[in-house]
This record gives sequence, C-alpha cells and structure tokens, in this order.
Amino acid sequence: MTDPSEAILQVRDLVKHYPLTQGIIFRKHVGAVQAVDGVSFDLNRGETLGIVGESGCGKSTVAKMLVNLEQPTSGQILYKGDDISKLSGRALRAVRRNIQMVFQDPYTSLNPRMTVGDIIGEPYDIHPEVAPKGSRRAKVQELLDVVGLNPEYINRYPHQFSGGQRQRIGIARGLALRPEIIVADEPVSALDVSVQAQVVNLLERLQDEFGLSYAFIAHDLSVVRHISDRVAVMYLGRLAELGTDTEIYDHPTHPYTQALLSAVPVPDPEAREGRARIILSGDVPSPADPPSGCRFRTRCWKAQARCAAEVPQLAVPEHLVGAGGPVEHPSACFFAEDMAAAGHSAP
Ligand SMILES: Nc1ncnc2c1ncn2[C@@H]1O[C@H](COP(=O)(O)OP(=O)(O)OP(=O)(O)O)[C@@H](O)[C@H]1O
Ligand code: SF4
Ligand SMILES: [Mg+2]
Repeated sequence: MTDPSEAILQVRDLVKHYPLTQGIIFRKHVGAVQAVDGVSFDLNRGETLGIVGESGCGKSTVAKMLVNLEQPTSGQILYKGDDISKLSGRALRAVRRNIQMVFQDPYTSLNPRMTVGDIIGEPYDIHPEVAPKGSRRAKVQELLDVVGLNPEYINRYPHQFSGGQRQRIGIARGLALRPEIIVADEPVSALDVSVQAQVVNLLERLQDEFGLSYAFIAHDLSVVRHISDRVAVMYLGRLAELGTDTEIYDHPTHPYTQALLSAVPVPDPEAREGRARIILSGDVPSPADPPSGCRFRTRCWKAQARCAAEVPQLAVPEHLVGAGGPVEHPSACFFAEDMAAAGHSAP
C-alpha cells in the first residue's frame, strides 16, 4: 500500500527567467522575463493537483520544467528525492520515462504525416526496453483500447479524427511508457465543452486504473474543480493560494482567488446571491517588470503600503494560524480573510 500523502514530486523555489537582450551583433542583457519566480509545491502520489491562473502567468513554463523540456534558472524539482534538473544519462532517461506530458492542442501536437500507431509508439524508439521487438503493435493497440479508441484505427492519420479523439491519441502517447506522473497542460481547453467532460472522465478513469499522479493545468477554475484533489492558484509567476477543493472554492482567502471565483457562473441562485461579483481593474503587469512586493497589488482592492514593500510568502497567514477549519491554508496575502467571514466586503 502506498502512502497517499507521500510526495512523489517536490518543487522548491522554482525560478525561470528568460533573458531579454538588445542589439543584433553585441547582444546586451537588458533584463529578464520572470515567467516563474519562486514556486513551491508538492505533488502527492495518486493525487491531482490543479494549477490555475490567467494567460501568461507561467503555467506552461512550470509544466515544461516538470517534464524537463526547460531547465530552471534556479530551484529544485525533486522526484523521489533526486533533483531532476541535475540528472543526466541513464538516470535522466529513467525520470523522463516516469514523467510524461499531455499537451493543450491536439490539432498541432500530433504530426499530421505520421500514423496513429507511429505517434503513440514513438516513445518506444527512445525506450525500446518498454516494448521489446515484435510487441510494439500489440502494445499500441492495447493503448488505443485503453483510451476508448478502436484498435483497428492504428494505421489512420490524425486528420481522420475529431478533436476529442485526437486528445485521446495524445493521452495514449503519454501513457505509452507507463509513467507515474502526467503533466497535462490545458488538455481540454481546445475542445468543445461537450467533449471536455468525456476527456476529463477518461483521465480520471486512467488515474484509478494506473495509479497516476496528475499536475492538471487550466485557466478555468471550474474545469479544475471536478478533477482536482488540491488546487494551486498562480498569478504572474508566483503561487497566490494553495488548498483543497473546499479550502479554495468555499473559503478562498486570497483576493485574486476570490476575484477568479466571482467570475465563475454559479448555478444555484441562493449561492449566487451571497457572492459578490468582483471586477478586476487594470491589466496583468508585464512579467519583465513585475510590481514590487505583492505582485497582485496593482489590481488588489485591499492593497496597503506593506504590500508594496514586502513579498508575501505562500504559507498560512500569521493571523490565521490556529484559526482551524478550511480557512487555515496557505495564502500569499498579508490581509488574507475568508470572504464569507468578511461579509462579502469586496467591491
Ligand atoms: N521562450 C520564452 N522566451 C521569453 N519569454 C517566454 C518564453 N516562454 C514563455 N515566455 C513568457 O513567460 C510568461 C509565462 O508564459 P507561459 O507560457 O508559461 O504562460 P501560461 O500561464 O502557460 O499562459 P497561457 O495560459 O497563455 O498558456 C509569458 O509572459 C510568456 O510570454
Ligand atoms: S498582500 Fe496586499 S496586495 Fe497582495 S493580495 Fe494581499 S492585500 Fe492584496
Ligand atoms: Mg500555457
């Protein structure tokens, strides 16, 4: 029996800065895009951690670092205790096999000139030990079956499938090496709403069947709620709030999460009445020149002098330590408070 609270991945103070240069011959450093700037979280075995936030907040950059497609500027990604960004050779290959990615756009992420069989079986070129010679075709057909596609489609091309089916092909490829962790970067965002639920249900079934751990990225809080055990809310390269379903959706304490949630339609009229609608003013600042202190302060209706001077850390806020109940969870805000308790004081 595995311990469900055991962290399979530990992300510590992860940073990715893309250098900004000027000049064609003498490229001069003029700054950096701070795409990810000090992100820490654990991914527990068998859980789904949802990562949400607006476009450009750094979600895909985190995803790429988790699967080793990007090197962190600093920080650690510990997989079973080893920092994966420092591994090489055989050790790196073994880790890569265990952490796979499912991409956002099933239209562009599948090579149109390859058959479905070659696309799904491609990972076996790098890891032939998983599918010994002669067994590959059968393994690919088994994967097609697992994701709900007809195994006889093995010789078809991507254009012969719908968007939802293509995403199933992408998922089958992600599963080919029998990974432990799947990083899914907006896996349903490009699909019709009616198809989204089917793909989410498939991912849930596969999680149970193969004991997978998911980092599930989305910009929509409502998509993530259904599938996630815990949710991390990201803003401009940092985490704003982290908690369970109940903590984030029913007792959010960070103003940014409260604003995001107020934009989600609530079907129950009674619940809707009790919830303030928060319209965020101003644009998201540039990650090349983020605000000092709390990055959300330029759009926060609760901002005070302290917010410009100090960086709030993602931890249970001091004044909420010992509060008990779902309000006591990590929130990177000096003035974090439960909206319900605050009497819906937001504008
Ligand atoms: N290779 C790169 N070079 C320079 N800047 C980059 C690079 N990749 C990403 N960025 C910048 O880093 C920031 C974060 O990008 P990222 O793609 O991680 O955001 P995201 O949260 O995934 O957004 P979306 O929801 O639109 O997919 C953005 O400002 C983006 O322009
Ligand atoms: S720390 Fe200040 S600016 Fe940041 S979210 Fe909290 S109140 Fe708003
Ligand atoms: Mg992205």
